[in-house]
Amino acid sequence: MNRGTTVCVEGDAMQPAAARFHLSDTADTPTTPGLAVVIGARGGIGAGLMARLQASGAHAEVVGLSRQGEPWIDLTSEGSVAAAAAAVAARGLPLRLLVNAGGFLHGRGMMPEKGWSQIDPAHLAHAFAVNAVGPALLVKHFLPLLPAEGRSVFATLSARVGSIGDNRLGGWYAYRASKAAANQIVRTAAVELRRRRPQAICVALHPGTVATALSAPFARGGLEVQTADAAAGRLLDVIAGLGPAQSGGFFDHRGAAVPW
Ligand SMILES: NC(=O)c1ccc[n+]([C@@H]2O[C@H](COP(=O)([O-])OP(=O)(O)OC[C@H]3O[C@@H](n4cnc5c(N)ncnc54)[C@H](OP(=O)(O)O)[C@@H]3O)[C@@H](O)[C@H]2O)c1
Repeated sequence: MNRGTTVCVEGDAMQPAAARFHLSDTADTPTTPGLAVVIGARGGIGAGLMARLQASGAHAEVVGLSRQGEPWIDLTSEGSVAAAAAAVAARGLPLRLLVNAGGFLHGRGMMPEKGWSQIDPAHLAHAFAVNAVGPALLVKHFLPLLPAEGRSVFATLSARVGSIGDNRLGGWYAYRASKAAANQIVRTAAVELRRRRPQAICVALHPGTVATALSAPFARGGLEVQTADAAAGRLLDVIAGLGPAQSGGFFDHRGAAVPW
């Protein structure tokens, strides 16, 4: 996809940053370098995150997990999530950052629903398995790995179309509902995490419109979309600015709060 192409995946080209937080508002406690993990590391945004994290040198080790390689991870398989978490724990480094860049919008003969006549239980089930149950399994198996001391971040890529308050266009039942469910899981996990790891942060992030395989079928001429590299850079900037006060939030790639 060329730059200069619009993807109507989010329909949010330039939202106002009414509730943007400021980096100076955050309590970024210095911590020892540790491990950064990207789930969905072979996807468009996931690969961009991997490249940026590896180039930054900010982490002692950067691990990319996907459905290929060893250990592999399939978000629809709890066994694979548990095994991947065990392999990460075995590295013996504090888990300072986990970003889940896995997600499902189309594929396996399924396309986003244009209206209620297209609602399909199998489509709904698969979208929920990848986009909502997947992050829940990551919460279950990876949040316990966050260190007891110092700053750490668990971020899962959501989507603005998962916002109930921002839903004006309708359609896309499975994707919208599964991302809304993921947002609730993040919020719920953040409440529990605050008790167990007060310095840890758990958030949902909207990456903006990004030129990837996920968005390609919905490309339209017009506004510019981000490259995966640019989106990864913005997401990592947002993550760097998060403090415990932002845990449980839903933020876009500019750091603006997205309505639930
Ligand atoms: N692109 C956008 O405009 C946009 C907008 C809003 C939100 N997002 C969100 O951003 C995230 C990344 O999307 P992207 O644009 O980078 O899409 P992408 O290039 O299609 O990457 C999606 C990734 O999800 C992985 N995945 C799918 N099903 C999986 C499963 N069952 N288990 C493990 N991994 C699975 C894929 O793995 P394989 O490599 O093994 O296929 C792929 O790496 C998604 O959550 C998406 O909803 C994207």
